[in-house]
Amino acid sequence: MSYNNLTYEIENRINIISINRPEKLNALNIETFSEIDHAIKSSVANNEVRIIIITGVGEKAFVAGADINEFVNFTMEQGSELSESGHKILSETIEGCPKPIIAAINGYALGGGLELAMACHIRVASENSKMGLPEVSLGVIPGYGGTQRLPQLVGKGRALDMILTAKMIDADEALAYGLINYKTDQTELMDFAKNLSKKILANSSNAIKNAIKSVNANFEKGVDGFNVEINEFGKCFETKEFKEGTSAFLNKRKPDFN
Ligand code: COA
Repeated sequence: MSYNNLTYEIENRINIISINRPEKLNALNIETFSEIDHAIKSSVANNEVRIIIITGVGEKAFVAGADINEFVNFTMEQGSELSESGHKILSETIEGCPKPIIAAINGYALGGGLELAMACHIRVASENSKMGLPEVSLGVIPGYGGTQRLPQLVGKGRALDMILTAKMIDADEALAYGLINYKTDQTELMDFAKNLSKKILANSSNAIKNAIKSVNANFEKGVDGFNVEINEFGKCFETKEFKEGTSAFLNKRKPDFN
């Protein structure tokens, strides 16, 4: 698969998508965003892939935000359209992805970059990472779901503090806030993310898909997450993976979900 702004590799059932505009600190222009959308959809359709890692090329940035050059002259309508299309990709393609997506944050994750990471299911960050939603310093607000997902992850008080001051926090603070799940040395980031992937790969991909759907339901307006869980729980009982997982347990062996 070839993209202008991404590298795309598959190894041991893990798809690694690296945003590749290091000279612009991997800023998300519209083309890059649509390539991410396409790459993830391809991975969902590819049976060889069971888990996705998103990272940034270079040692400095995961993604330093939406590409400011692109929207500098936008009208109100164009601004709303940009936000709407970003929301669709982050909510439907990434957060709603039936295969787990890990953000391996390798440096600056600012604005749209942090919003991208927050839409992923798990976040690992290297110790040099800096995270923030600095949009108000540019006269805009976070437009790819940041005003909603940051409070979900860190609480309203901390989210408003970060958004209104436009400050950046480091990996230690992000870990203490619950914004990231793990912090690692920069040189170990990808190995850490791959080891985490291996732990997930040992589990039933069908059950994982149902678990992601159920957890996401908690945050969907007008949806009763408990009912979604009841349905998704029931569906598991019809699967080969449930038979394998339970019979492996009863026969005192490890399950084989591959
Ligand atoms: N959009 C477009 N270009 C960006 C960018 C963004 N969000 N973030 C960085 N770049 C570009 C810079 O313009 C520069 O390009 P140039 O060399 O052609 O001038 C290049 O990436 C390197 O960035 P630079 O600012 O020189 O690096 P730095 O180490 O001095 O500063 C940051 C790093 C992250 C602090 C700084 O780039 C920054 O504040 N970026 C914008 C962050 C932001 O507001 N994001 C939210 C956008 S909605």
